[in-house]
Amino acid sequence: MRFTTILAAAAGLACALTLPIAAHAQAPAPPIAAPGEAVFNARCKACHEPAIERAPDRATLATMPAGAIVEALTNGVMKSMAAGLSEADRQAVAAYLAAAAAPAPVAQGGRGRPQPPLVGVDLKCQVNPPIKPSGSDWTSVGLETSHRYQAHPGLTAVDVAKLKVKWAFTMTGGSMPTVIGDWLFITNRSGKFYALDAATGCVRWVVEGAVSRTTPMIVKSAIAPSGWATFIGERNRTVRALDAQTGKDIWRSAVLDANAVAGVTGSPLVAGDRIFVPLTSGEEGAAIPPTYPCCSFQGALVALDLATGKTLWKTVVLPEPLRPTHKNAVGTMLQGPAGGAIWSAPTYDAGRGLVYVATGDSYTDVDTKGADAIVAIEAATGKIRWSNQVTERDNFIVGCTDAVKPANCPSPDGPDYDFGASPILFKLAPGKGGKGGRDILLAGQKSGVAYGMDPDTGATLWSTKVGGGSALGGIEWGMAADAKRLYVANADTINLIDEYLRPLGKSPMAVKQPPATPGLYALDPATGKVLWRAPAPIASCHYAGDRSRDRTGGACIRAQSQAPSVMPGAVFSGTLDGWFRAYDPASGKVLWADSTTSRTYDTVNRVKGQPGGSLDGLGAAIAGGRVFVMSGFNGAANTGGNGNNVLLAYSVDGK
Ligand code: HEC
Repeated sequence: MRFTTILAAAAGLACALTLPIAAHAQAPAPPIAAPGEAVFNARCKACHEPAIERAPDRATLATMPAGAIVEALTNGVMKSMAAGLSEADRQAVAAYLAAAAAPAPVAQGGRGRPQPPLVGVDLKCQVNPPIKPSGSDWTSVGLETSHRYQAHPGLTAVDVAKLKVKWAFTMTGGSMPTVIGDWLFITNRSGKFYALDAATGCVRWVVEGAVSRTTPMIVKSAIAPSGWATFIGERNRTVRALDAQTGKDIWRSAVLDANAVAGVTGSPLVAGDRIFVPLTSGEEGAAIPPTYPCCSFQGALVALDLATGKTLWKTVVLPEPLRPTHKNAVGTMLQGPAGGAIWSAPTYDAGRGLVYVATGDSYTDVDTKGADAIVAIEAATGKIRWSNQVTERDNFIVGCTDAVKPANCPSPDGPDYDFGASPILFKLAPGKGGKGGRDILLAGQKSGVAYGMDPDTGATLWSTKVGGGSALGGIEWGMAADAKRLYVANADTINLIDEYLRPLGKSPMAVKQPPATPGLYALDPATGKVLWRAPAPIASCHYAGDRSRDRTGGACIRAQSQAPSVMPGAVFSGTLDGWFRAYDPASGKVLWADSTTSRTYDTVNRVKGQPGGSLDGLGAAIAGGRVFVMSGFNGAANTGGNGNNVLLAYSVDGK
């Protein structure tokens, strides 16, 4: 699994990786005096500048509050990397990273002088009218059974061709937003949870210290004094309920997993009087040092009482219990099975009383049936109804390549073919292929394969390979569906990078990768037949901060990893090179395209010249005649994310 997009290890990264590992393995590093820069250079730089694999680079680290960095070093995913550092050292390195400026965006292949991250000014709205649904709202990450389909967009396919940016808002690492009436909700990595005016971008309220990446679901509920509640999953493995009208806390859950590397990245989903919370982890990265007892996180779904936030049940998706296995080469006792992280939102099936989750890879070579699986869990009891594993023995941790095998690498190494997209529960049209009116569960994997499964039994009914597949997708973040078709975005990120690297005589990221076929695909949900394909265009790229340019000799990666969103007459889908496009759902023809990096933005929160970044993650919300999307994915990514983050609000003619 991953918290975010990652890059699989390049052979060229091998030496960078072995340095810190050797230091950890052989002798505890000698105490290092402040200042933070010395700590950074001695203990962090080898992995973070340039950033290896999924590690956040300096620009991204600079967007994190110092407290969150200390927390990561003390109790979080970097605990194993910070072993032996004093409290003062941790504070110093965090202050150094958070305050000191990130290195400037890479300008045409060269690193510029340091510049501070762009920080906006929160301008409050004059009035906050009561929240009122408009009939054209986008109130959860996936809407009805994760279709990501807006039936009443408030604009037509003809209007789509006239979309222009109406306002922009500088943001460090924003989630996908939700919208109800003129209220927009968005969390971000720097810890500011915002309610904005969807019409103008002014700030209705902001809650600080809420470090989150989940999409805030908006629910009419008596638990909120205003009648409207919202929910976020936080970095510290808790869920928080707030009044959507005021931002005031309603409850906070207990810490939902004892494992410090666990987290919540999939958006908690409200159904009836419960909220379902998927648990994921960063243990794949934390497990790199051979002193780390790899691995113990087991993916789970937790049901909380909506009124109180109390845990009703917690279901671990790996059927096998955790057990110690053997000592590794440096004498650390290893354990397993581990993995099966759930990094996307669950999907609720009211008719069957089931919650479907999609799981990621296994972290160890202890066999498990729960990894790379779609799992159906009874909403009432937490009992697993069925589980369908599509890839066996996909054992993966960060930093294992053919050339380098630190002591915790599982054997054999798997391809890292997580499921990262929420499953879609789809009603087939009556009469079609004799399968009239039946339901089918649609899933998409990083292998580039889409599946149709029987929601009653979990049996695979069809599978269609649309992409080459890689540790970065294949199908990375999502799919969408209207009443007729399934829309699948295929990334093939590593395959694409390798296609750039090979002719330059540089070492490829992966030894063998099938050819890249990035693009948007429409499939028949009944049979999996490809109805049309729209290859990701090779388009001019103005993404000065794209770190992949370093690796690719100037080209931007056109991987189509972002989850699509659909409305009548248009499918919206973005690519890592910063392009945002609308496609005709019937033919795949591009109706409209906008490069979010060909210009800079003067934002409502008073940043001038804000650049855009890559389009990745959970994609657009279509509501009230507007389309909202985050440009600049601020996950811990070596492709795409560059710390340039701007929320864009498009409207017809920019009005
Ligand atoms: C051996 C490589 C390695 C070393 C050494 C290392 N890191 Fe990391 N770091 C990573 C990787 C990989 C991730 C991404 C983990 C993930 O998201 O699963 C990461 C993530 C982080 C994060 C983000 C954590 C989060 O919760 O999102 C912070 C902050 C961080 N590192 C700080 C540091 C600091 C400070 C040091 C030095 C004291 C350090 N790291 C040393 C590899 C390393």
